[in-house]
Amino acid sequence: MRTPPVDVRDRPPYAVDQFRVKADYRSDLDGVLVPEGEIVSRIEGMADEISRVYRRRDGADLYALCVLKGAMRFFGALTPRLDLDRPFSEGVVRADRYVGGEGPSERAEVKWLEPDSIAGKDILVVEDVIDEGYTLATLLDQLANLDPNSVEVAVLFDKIARRQTAVDVAFTGFLIPDEFVVGYGLDYDERYRNLRHLGVLDEAVMRE
Ligand code: IMP
Ligand code: MG
Repeated sequence: MRTPPVDVRDRPPYAVDQFRVKADYRSDLDGVLVPEGEIVSRIEGMADEISRVYRRRDGADLYALCVLKGAMRFFGALTPRLDLDRPFSEGVVRADRYVGGEGPSERAEVKWLEPDSIAGKDILVVEDVIDEGYTLATLLDQLANLDPNSVEVAVLFDKIARRQTAVDVAFTGFLIPDEFVVGYGLDYDERYRNLRHLGVLDEAVMRE
C-alpha cells in the first residue's frame, strides 16, 4: 500500500526569522514552506516505500536517474537510504524547458542519457518538482525509446494544480501550493539552490 504525500498546500509558510537562513537570502523569501528536517524525514519514508515496492516486484537491475540540476540534493539524500535486493546503479540526465531565452517550451531539452545503462533495467527517475508536467513527459518519452524493463518516477514536490499533461508519478514527497519555490536544490535563475529549506520566493525578486 502506498503512503500518501504530505500535503502542505493549505499550510501557511513559517516566518523566515524562525529558521537559520543566509542573510542575503532572507529578504528574497516570503517564508519557509518546508524546513530541511521535514524534507529529510519524508525522504526517509519515501526510501522505505520505494525499497518495499521493488523488493516485492520481480525485475531487473535498478538504475536511479537524477534529473539535473534541481534533483541533486533529493537524489543525494534518497539513494543511500534505499535498501534493495537487486543490483543498483546511478546516472544523471539534464532536462530543461528553459533553453534559448524564450519562455518555457512544451518539450524539454534532454541531454546525457546513456542508452547502454538504460536498456533492460528498472529505471527510477528522481526529479525535484513537477509543475506543468512537460519536463517529465518529454523525458519519459525518450526513456521509452531506450527499451527499459520498467520506468517509475519519484518526485519530491508536486504543484498538482498546475498540471497540463498527464504524468504517472509513483512516489511523491509533498503536495505544494502554486507558488514559486526555491531551495533544497531548486533555483530561480541558478540562485538559491544552497538554501537548506524549501522557501517561497518573493514575487518582487522575479520582477527585477
Ligand atoms: P514542468 O515541466 O512544468 O513540470 O516543470 C518542471 C521543471 O520546472 C522542474 O524540473 C524545475 O526545474 C522547474 N520548476 C517548476 N516549478 C518550479 C519552482 O517552483 N521552483 C523552481 N523550479 C521550478
Ligand atoms: Mg528540474
